[in-house]
Amino acid sequence: MVPVPDHSPRELLDFYLEAGADAFVGEEPVDRFAPVEQAPAPPRPARQVPDSAMPSRAAPSAAPQAPDEAAMAAREAARTASSLEELRGILEKFDGCALKATASRLVFADGNPKSKVMFIGEAPGRDEDLEGVPFVGRSGKLLDRMLAAIGLDRTSVYIANIVPWRPPGNRTPTPQETQICLPFILRQIELADPDILVCLGGPSAQTLLGIKEGITKTRGRWFAFNSGKREIRAMPTFHPAFLLRSPLQKRFVWRDFLAIKKALNG
Ligand code: URA
Repeated sequence: MVPVPDHSPRELLDFYLEAGADAFVGEEPVDRFAPVEQAPAPPRPARQVPDSAMPSRAAPSAAPQAPDEAAMAAREAARTASSLEELRGILEKFDGCALKATASRLVFADGNPKSKVMFIGEAPGRDEDLEGVPFVGRSGKLLDRMLAAIGLDRTSVYIANIVPWRPPGNRTPTPQETQICLPFILRQIELADPDILVCLGGPSAQTLLGIKEGITKTRGRWFAFNSGKREIRAMPTFHPAFLLRSPLQKRFVWRDFLAIKKALNG
């Protein structure tokens, strides 16, 4: 028989904590990554546009295809919001996403909703969950420094996430969770009506822009995005959490941020 190391429960808990599993979720294991029948369909597929292209008016496109009841309910609920505050209130009451049950609170947005530029991450982490504000942890501090480098701060940008509740242990949101939350972030973009969208990281870019390619290939490129009100420009760039792990990649994000600054001033 293989000898089983004798670890104390305390050591096991420390191991889980270090691995990011810091929330008790349930008695039975659940495979949240089991294949789904229908992957989240991007509602408004983006196409790449040349750097010089300016945003132009376009007719709103159809709302996203929902694969299940919760996503349908989310779509219905999001549609009824006529202001960002109403949308926040609707999200506070929405029970269709299981993440709400394990998160401490809703993490709706930060910054200036009238800003011309909106940054969108993937999902809140532990610090954001505690404060109810996006990007306040280590990656948020780096985002603040990146913004400062191009003369911006939280009074001049608007910040949100695809998923507004923290997934337990900071795990990746499942395709189902993303799909359920998608109508809300789309409505949030529509109501905030920015000129420029910045997708922080691959999941944000792939979900919002409907692109299959990874972030390394797509970062720094402009895509057309139908905000529901009009066509705007969207740029994927590396997520600050990735930059904390791979600081050498910051030089690419610097280029992206300079392009964003130029677009904002242009
Ligand atoms: N990472 C994200 O994608 N969003 C946050 O709010 C914090 C970290």
